[in-house]
Amino acid sequence: MDSLLDFSGQVAMITGASSGFGRLLAQGLASRGCNLVLGDINLDELQNTLDSLSLTDNQVISMACDVSDEAAVKAMVDGALKTFGRLDIGVNNAGIAHSLMPLHQVDQATIDKQMAVNVNGVLFGMKYQIEAMLKQGSGHVLNVSSMAGIGGAPKGAAYSAAKHAVVGLTRTAAVEYAKKGIRANAICPFYSPTNILAVDGYDSPESQERLARGCPMRRLADPQEVVNTMILILSPGNSYMSGQTIAIDGAVSAW
Ligand SMILES: NC(=O)c1ccc[n+]([C@@H]2O[C@H](COP(=O)([O-])OP(=O)(O)OC[C@H]3O[C@@H](n4cnc5c(N)ncnc54)[C@H](O)[C@@H]3O)[C@@H](O)[C@H]2O)c1
Repeated sequence: MDSLLDFSGQVAMITGASSGFGRLLAQGLASRGCNLVLGDINLDELQNTLDSLSLTDNQVISMACDVSDEAAVKAMVDGALKTFGRLDIGVNNAGIAHSLMPLHQVDQATIDKQMAVNVNGVLFGMKYQIEAMLKQGSGHVLNVSSMAGIGGAPKGAAYSAAKHAVVGLTRTAAVEYAKKGIRANAICPFYSPTNILAVDGYDSPESQERLARGCPMRRLADPQEVVNTMILILSPGNSYMSGQTIAIDGAVSAW
């Protein structure tokens, strides 16, 4: 295997691994030799992810993990250390959308849920991943933000606020831990048809066509395209990039 895509011997933790980007990333890293620690709240689908992995000498452990529960996130990192003795990659991917609402109608429950899962979930992941990485003097955190984390998202104010926070956490960690050999980056995808689009009502062909018209490439990303970029960012050869928010957006942000 090309060394740029060889993750043999590495250990990666992925939250939200039961679906969408998290499942595809687990598949992509597993087939490239990476040991994995996978977590999600949806245990039936987590089992389906496990069943879909192709492993060689590498191993996978999985556990129930609601990322809004600090102890559950810590347990994933503890699982990595107990089973594999290290953690090289932390992917804070679990996230939720909310139904579309104008900013002046955003309610407290929506904000609280966004902060609990999309912000606290990432912060808890980073906190324990970085603690483990400090002990070994190396590591790479990859957070999943969104185009809504680098620009406005009409009718998605709470989601946008949460995803902007993910960018702030990423940049802060990159600067704070650079001297310790720890890097942090974030991806900012445009819409891609995974289960999350059902939440904000973008799961019909018509609404996806409408979204695609807002993209210079005139199409949404295949989820595998987003994950391919995640794998390239996590590549062992990509060792000098840190603090970046990488748009995966068919040139939307270039407009
Ligand atoms: N698909 C897109 O268009 C898009 C665009 C930009 C950003 N994102 C982000 O990508 C990430 C992955 O989403 P996806 O598109 O694969 O959607 P998805 O709904 O297919 O996957 C999200 C996963 O997170 C899990 N999850 C939800 N709440 C959780 C919690 N509290 N604790 C642990 N796991 C939880 C779900 O069970 C699911 O397995 C999210 O952070 C999302 O905000 C997605």
